[in-house]
Amino acid sequence: MAVISIYSTKGGVAKSMTAIHLSSYLANKGNKVFLLDADQNVRTCSDWLEDSTDKNFDGDDFNSFDADMIDVINTLQKEYDHVVIDNKGSNDLIVSESLMCSDFCISPIVPQDNDIKSLPRTLETIHATRDVNTDLQYKFLIQKADTHAFSRKNKKLLNILDELELDRFETVIKRRSGFDVAMESNSTVLDMNNDAKAVYEINRFGQEIERWMEGKEH
Ligand SMILES: Nc1ncnc2c1ncn2[C@@H]1O[C@H](COP(=O)(O)OP(=O)(O)OP(=O)(O)O)[C@@H](O)[C@H]1O
Ligand SMILES: [Mg+2]
Repeated sequence: MAVISIYSTKGGVAKSMTAIHLSSYLANKGNKVFLLDADQNVRTCSDWLEDSTDKNFDGDDFNSFDADMIDVINTLQKEYDHVVIDNKGSNDLIVSESLMCSDFCISPIVPQDNDIKSLPRTLETIHATRDVNTDLQYKFLIQKADTHAFSRKNKKLLNILDELELDRFETVIKRRSGFDVAMESNSTVLDMNNDAKAVYEINRFGQEIERWMEGKEH
């Protein structure tokens, strides 16, 4: 049982795409999963959930609960194996409460200068949360990376994360049209099976998450 927040202060870094694919991966493994859309303005996950025909997990908009974030998460935790929260790309009470109730935080980061610039702000929020929620574990997930094997941008980001001694997933999710097409079709690359490399990356990322969660439980 885990509450997993997807969080970054930066917009457009694939938070919602990660939340949806992770929910689908965990549900495929036989878990009862709830995807909580906590980004009331953009509503990517709510729209996706509304129009998706082949989803294997439950989910809803945070607003539909008419309760505060802590109560919503407590309620969902009782009914589901895993709660995945898609957070908005900014900081407010809902984001802090979401992180405060989470066991794990996954922070997607794109190998681009603008995105790297937002790293200190994201870290600041995570560290402030960990002052109170001392059990919160976090890792960065490199998302929308160049597909070139020797990409200078990818290497730069890897070096920065290593220099700052920040934990990251070994799996790097590349910028692939399969992801875009799946999201546009209210599906996932796992269901569409439209892009073998994209499927491989999500499965590898999912296996890393499972090992991470097992580590915490022991
Ligand atoms: N690995 C990828 N390869 C190609 N396209 C991707 C990838 N990941 C996400 N995208 C596309 O990038 C766009 C932004 O993704 P997404 O909505 O998940 O980001 P976000 O961080 O949730 O954005 P927001 O801050 O607006 O909530 C979407 O069109 C999505 O389909
Ligand atoms: Mg989003």
